[in-house]
Amino acid sequence: MSSLRLEDLKQYSDTLQTRQGERLNVRFVEPRDTEELQHYFRSLSNRSRYSRFFGAISELPKGLLHDFLEVGERDRFTVVATKMVDGFETIVAEARYALHAETSTLEFGLSVDDRWQGHGIATALMKNLECRAAALGAEHMFGDTLRSNETMISLARKSGFAFVNHPDDWKLVRFDKEISVAPKDIPCASWRLAALSRQADSPSASV
Ligand SMILES: CC(C)(COP(=O)(O)OP(=O)(O)OC[C@H]1O[C@@H](n2cnc3c(N)ncnc32)[C@H](O)[C@@H]1OP(=O)(O)O)[C@@H](O)C(=O)NCCC(=O)NCCS
Repeated sequence: MSSLRLEDLKQYSDTLQTRQGERLNVRFVEPRDTEELQHYFRSLSNRSRYSRFFGAISELPKGLLHDFLEVGERDRFTVVATKMVDGFETIVAEARYALHAETSTLEFGLSVDDRWQGHGIATALMKNLECRAAALGAEHMFGDTLRSNETMISLARKSGFAFVNHPDDWKLVRFDKEISVAPKDIPCASWRLAALSRQADSPSASV
């Protein structure tokens, strides 16, 4: 089980690069992001929102918005990838993940702003999530997508996921991957901090 300390969320920021080499900051969402997060979801195309939530919504319903902002609650986390645009920190992608400790799995879903799709952001974000999953002690990570979502299916295939039927919903397909992260290969602040705090908990543990 993880011993991440969430008091100061900023310490868990990571930097990702788009395929063109632009740098994005990836960090846990904070209460100050409420408006910007809703703006991000409202600005997604109908199709992207439908693909992300498997239903027609125009913004995050109140309960879901509340859940998105509760980082660490019931082992669920939300991260945003941001970029400075005209002096404002703008959300260009988001991901939500949940650790299922009983099965050592990490479930996730994500989206990228339509204007930023095709820049390799989801590819980089999924690598980052893999690193976070390893930091939390997960052995597999998985997500669900609509069978019609060719983009996500192609992305998952390229990222090394295998496909299985969804247990309850024939419209969905589940993609699953065994986690094999070498921490030195993927810079990820949350991994390093988790590893350090584990060392502190158990000085003889090698990480
Ligand atoms: C699926 C999604 C997250 C991909 O994000 P992205 O940042 O555009 O993905 P990347 O740029 O990393 O692309 C990775 C791969 O996806 C595939 N892909 C990207 N755009 C595609 C398109 N328009 N059609 C088919 N495949 C596509 C390609 O295989 C691509 O690899 P390549 O560029 O080497 O060919 C994004 O399209 C999105 O937010 N969609 C709406 C929400 C959603 O579907 N979420 C998934 C379910 S939780």
